[in-house]
Amino acid sequence: MASYEYEVHEYDVVVVGAGGAGLRATLGMAEQGLRTACISKVFPTRSHTVAAQGGIAASLGNMGPDSWQWHMFDTVKGSDWLGDTDAMEYLAREAPKAVYELEHYGVPFSRTEEGKIYQRPFGGHTTEFGDGPPVQRTCAAADRTGHAILHTLYGQSLKNNAEFYIEYFAIDLIMSEDGQCTGVVCWKLDDGTFHVFNAKMVVLATGGYGRAYFSATSAHTCTGDGGGMVARAGLALQDMEFVQFHPTGIYGSGCLITEGARGEGGYLTNSEGERFMERYAPQYKDLAPRDYVSRSMTMEIREGRGVGKDGDHIHLHLNHLPAAALAERLPGISESAKIFAGVDVTKEPIPVLPTVHYNMGGIPTNYWGEVLNPTAKDPNAVVPGLMAVGEAGCASVHGANRLGSNSLIDLVVFGRAAAIRAGKVVNPDSANPTLNQASIDKAFDRFDGLRHAKGNMATAELRLEMQKTMQSDAAVFRTAETMKEGVEKMTAIAAKMDDLSVTDRSLVWNSDLMETLELANLMPNALATIHGAEARKESRGAHAHEDFPTRDDENWRVHTISRVDGNKVDLTYRPVVVDPLTTEAEGGISLKKIAPKARTF
Ligand code: FUM
Repeated sequence: MASYEYEVHEYDVVVVGAGGAGLRATLGMAEQGLRTACISKVFPTRSHTVAAQGGIAASLGNMGPDSWQWHMFDTVKGSDWLGDTDAMEYLAREAPKAVYELEHYGVPFSRTEEGKIYQRPFGGHTTEFGDGPPVQRTCAAADRTGHAILHTLYGQSLKNNAEFYIEYFAIDLIMSEDGQCTGVVCWKLDDGTFHVFNAKMVVLATGGYGRAYFSATSAHTCTGDGGGMVARAGLALQDMEFVQFHPTGIYGSGCLITEGARGEGGYLTNSEGERFMERYAPQYKDLAPRDYVSRSMTMEIREGRGVGKDGDHIHLHLNHLPAAALAERLPGISESAKIFAGVDVTKEPIPVLPTVHYNMGGIPTNYWGEVLNPTAKDPNAVVPGLMAVGEAGCASVHGANRLGSNSLIDLVVFGRAAAIRAGKVVNPDSANPTLNQASIDKAFDRFDGLRHAKGNMATAELRLEMQKTMQSDAAVFRTAETMKEGVEKMTAIAAKMDDLSVTDRSLVWNSDLMETLELANLMPNALATIHGAEARKESRGAHAHEDFPTRDDENWRVHTISRVDGNKVDLTYRPVVVDPLTTEAEGGISLKKIAPKARTF
């Protein structure tokens, strides 16, 4: 057994991750007087939320009529009827409150002439329950909205005495014999010390796992650390087959060009100069949801109408827009286009390609962020002491496809919801739960095994194999053949974790070891993704199965539940929550309005 010394820290709540969801949860916990620690492997304001550009959805109605019921309808339809209706209602209803709170905390939103929060159109956000024109619902701070939110929430958290443990890497959850989460084991990257955090509530806010793919808009830190820890604790992941491709990653680098670019009037063209989205989505055109636009772009390329010398990408035009508008509303992407594509957006189109951007799946939770144990006898049973929020979690509000700008609102609504819930279930006057030494020892054994790995394969080499396999076999379009091949390849790739070689054995700033721990987290996420995709015999949202091209509500309106053990994946299913929180008579939306129907735009 490996022997490492560690320091024990006691808190009411420990939040792992300091992106938008983690910081909103941290702030909400600290404001209520709960002793709160926030652990992050990067400096908080460098968390991936900093890269969120276009904005945050909320039906403020600053630019024209809007309502939370329209927002809820769009979210239901956007999810291709796989989202949980209670959670989607909660999101849409709480969104305006959550955004005004951000404003009062100090987020520097862009403003209208009258001084209200500026809102822009985004794909799939409409009026009149999908019958009216696009709505301007996405509240923006130019094209640096995530940056603005992150800095404000960090400042507010410090003001409220939350304590930060920065550049601490969470190795594993500490679980009691009877399945309660009681803390987390961490490695401090800059001095090589170890730390055990003991808490009444652990909140996983570790973000997505975009880096399971070769080309992603996600930061290199998006390695599914929460999903990895949860899988190793024997807990479930949900709906992992639904991976969002953002239509406009810069060709080559994958760097994000916000959907706000199309919201401000940008449009896509093929090699014939045609605005092809008019054919695929006659009503909403370039402002159709992302799964729709990404598929349309891929079809244009496949049919020989891609641009560039290899005909393998698409053009995004902003060059018809006034230079002053671009400078005011889209300064960040104007700079990115210059740096990463050598393009002056006022003069030329940007070369773009659908790029992995977001994971709809994650750790299953209720709409308070409490982690579910979906295979327990009681399907609503929660895992005591454990919450998951943000992209790490799956509440599930995005179902099979997320609408642009519903991510930032998910972060703050559910970060806030977790804090509200913790305020009810965490008693600051009670003693902390006892730590299970066997669980701590297990975490150190695993860590030590990887630290001294003496196999034949470098971490970077195995990671690349995984990324290339996921990129080609779990892509925008999928076939039975590619997914079967993906399952076989990923099973073999995951088995090679036992043949890794780590050459640096030190404990201080050992990036070789940290990347190995991250790869160990990416692997179960990737396995669950490819297995879930191979098993789902229908097309829904981001899962476009060429052998089963239509949605099958009778058999497949269910959440995929996966448990990953080594390179084995066990799949079960649980029903989608179809009932909203309020009835039409109570001011809610009628069941008829949100009943499944053909999803056209
Ligand atoms: O296009 C964007 O600005 C990304 C926003 C989002 O993913 O919600």
